[in-house]
Amino acid sequence: MDKTGFARLGRPFMNDGEEGEENGRMSMKYVELPTGDRLPALGQGTWMIGESRSSRAGEIATLQRGIDLGMTLIDTAEMYGEGASEQLVGEAIRGRRERVFLVSKVYPHNAGRKDLPAACERSLRRLGVDCLDLYLLHWRGGVPLAETVETFERLETQGKIRHWGVSNLDLGDMAELCAAPGGDRVAANQVLYNLTRRGVEWDLLPWCGERGIPLMAYSPIEQARLARHPGLCALAEKRGAAPAQLALAWLLRHDRVIAIPKASSVAHVEQNFAALACPLDAETLAGIDRLFPPPKRATPLQML
Ligand SMILES: NC(=O)c1ccc[n+]([C@@H]2O[C@H](COP(=O)([O-])OP(=O)(O)OC[C@H]3O[C@@H](n4cnc5c(N)ncnc54)[C@H](OP(=O)(O)O)[C@@H]3O)[C@@H](O)[C@H]2O)c1
Repeated sequence: MDKTGFARLGRPFMNDGEEGEENGRMSMKYVELPTGDRLPALGQGTWMIGESRSSRAGEIATLQRGIDLGMTLIDTAEMYGEGASEQLVGEAIRGRRERVFLVSKVYPHNAGRKDLPAACERSLRRLGVDCLDLYLLHWRGGVPLAETVETFERLETQGKIRHWGVSNLDLGDMAELCAAPGGDRVAANQVLYNLTRRGVEWDLLPWCGERGIPLMAYSPIEQARLARHPGLCALAEKRGAAPAQLALAWLLRHDRVIAIPKASSVAHVEQNFAALACPLDAETLAGIDRLFPPPKRATPLQML
């Protein structure tokens, strides 16, 4: 049994879909954490989920369908609906906890040595679990990074979290973090990365890659705008794919990038899962670069 608890699964996040035929055609890709643990490269986001009664059942069914397909990494945050998203995730994973890699995030103003343990307890309570698999600092605020690291490390020792990481940290902040005592144990950096936000390719992505730190790409479909992008739609049509699938497949071709699209319908989550079977040839990649050119210089990390 490793300390992540994944060994308890007896398998590294197998794509254990209920409908076997999917397992035959597509299989999940995995990304390694610096600890050697493996996570699904395609997970599920939950921002703006859990906020309306009328869509609740559909959102739960969608998350559960995603889990059954193998998209077992679920990303939430105390900020999302001020706890409503964590509550909905808790309901969706009941009876499925052992299959899920659960990620939540702490507000920067709660990231100090006194407030962070209490925020963690509140998230655990809303989610109905004993332990988070990954706990992220949502963005950098006024609390010194070294204090947050020290507190994350204590939560890990206490078994409240299995890994800790950060979100929205640019290169300078990452260097400062890694120089703090224990800071080089950061498990992931969750950042805005998609076809229209390629700045990280200049410096942050290679920097993290050299250190084995995965990037978790948030808003991978640019909050649905890529699904409507005329150029991408035309390119996708030529390939017989959906634009969202092309956008996801483009991220998934990296070794250490995890994409966490949010979907609130089973049709969308199934379409997103099928992006795993959407290989990109050189011609398509060149077409993508013409539509969404790679960065030519360093730019500050963007945030949504
Ligand atoms: N760390 C941070 O600061 C931060 C910031 C933003 C987001 N995040 C995380 O990243 C997750 C994903 O980002 P996001 O929610 O901002 O945006 P996103 O995943 O890029 O886009 C979500 C939107 O795309 C639509 N969509 C999903 N699959 C689709 C498909 N196959 N075809 C067409 N449209 C599709 C969804 O519609 P439906 O809902 O109708 O299915 C929704 O409107 C969040 O949910 C959150 O967990 C983190």
